[in-house]
Amino acid sequence: MSEVDVMNAPESSAWGDTAGGEKLLRVENLSVDFPTDDGVVHAVRDVSFTLGPGEVLGVVGESGSGKSVSSMAVMGLLPKTAKIGGSIKFKDRELVGLSYKQMQPVRGNGVAMIFQDPMTSMNPVYTVGWQLAEAHLAHHDVSKKAAWAKAVEALELVGIPQPDRRASQYPHEFSGGMRQRAMIAMAIINDPDVIIADEPTTALDVTVQAQILDTLLRIRDETSAGIVVITHDLGVVAGMVDRVQVMYGGTVVEQGTVDEVFEAQRMPYTVGLLGSIPNPNLLGKRLTPIKGAPPSLMNLPQGCSFSPRCPLAIDECRETEPQLLETDRSGHFARCHRSAHLATLENPQRLFAHDEIGVVENPASLTTANPGMPIAEDVDVVEARLHEGENPTS
Ligand SMILES: Nc1ncnc2c1ncn2[C@@H]1O[C@H](COP(=O)(O)OP(=O)(O)OP(=O)(O)O)[C@@H](O)[C@H]1O
Ligand code: SF4
Ligand SMILES: [Mg+2]
Repeated sequence: MSEVDVMNAPESSAWGDTAGGEKLLRVENLSVDFPTDDGVVHAVRDVSFTLGPGEVLGVVGESGSGKSVSSMAVMGLLPKTAKIGGSIKFKDRELVGLSYKQMQPVRGNGVAMIFQDPMTSMNPVYTVGWQLAEAHLAHHDVSKKAAWAKAVEALELVGIPQPDRRASQYPHEFSGGMRQRAMIAMAIINDPDVIIADEPTTALDVTVQAQILDTLLRIRDETSAGIVVITHDLGVVAGMVDRVQVMYGGTVVEQGTVDEVFEAQRMPYTVGLLGSIPNPNLLGKRLTPIKGAPPSLMNLPQGCSFSPRCPLAIDECRETEPQLLETDRSGHFARCHRSAHLATLENPQRLFAHDEIGVVENPASLTTANPGMPIAEDVDVVEARLHEGENPTS
């Protein structure tokens, strides 16, 4: 965190940037409420982060944790009924309060988004090249021929072979991975400063996932765009992001460099999230994700919203909501009353009972791939250990 950021940052929030310098995006205490007939949905609360040129931020959390809603707020794409609080600055220009029309020059040109489902975001009746060219023409006063050339160039940049020929094809003629690449081409057609990729690899196989993430990094290298990658799976972003922001119940619960967060979690939810990373080296069943359900965003529990599922919860947790504060490690923030206690635990993974543990074929490869993962050399050994009557909270 730079000195300037420390001075400007509100006490209770973490900017989480370690690089300092120019910022493309500055989100401060963002909140989004949706009034509904049944009550108010508090979809996003007290979310702050910054993004500089060439930086890659990972946003991770279970379904419904507010990942997409916060990015839609940045894009100015929330329904009119949404109540937005806090501040979203793109290159020092405040975006909160701008109308859909006022946001038009920023959207696509300044900040572009790759959506969760490429099939619903591309029009099946127009060729891929035509859709890309139209998106370019919407922001640039160029000839149709020049826009088409730009479309072909964008397809080439995202690694689509024979981009000339492919540009004349329809979305359904593309494979899933190709369509996702075409969506990335759509996002970069106007050379945006910031790219938000919302679950860009969901429903793709592991090899294609890796190619898509590589493509995003290559674009970052070539254009210096700042990139936000949203995902359920901490494993997906492990090798690619600089910083990671873990979301739970609509707010940020842990934030730091990816190494810090992988090496030493300071909030139990992140510990559980790491334990539920699926791993191809595990034969048989997957590790069990955290038990219980995410909180209702209409009736958030008093105190820490993770307390009903947290193996470390004490009375204080159920009474007072923790603030996002810097931990014992500089630049590493956590929203947890017991983060100092968590730091003393030798094997925090044991906090979550893994009753569906698989057999590890190659333990050495597992530790390299996911350093935080528990390792079970033998199912019997693990089961015996789990039944030893250990008290994980001690
Ligand atoms: N228009 C809306 N009206 C009411 N509630 C909404 C609206 N849009 C989103 N929500 C709620 O906001 C919460 C956060 O949703 P969001 O889409 O951000 O989750 P997410 O973290 O992106 O989940 P996923 O991983 O499933 O994509 C959810 O509970 C969702 O139901
Ligand atoms: S504040 Fe308490 S309940 Fe919440 S994560 Fe920390 S220990 Fe668990
Ligand atoms: Mg989402």
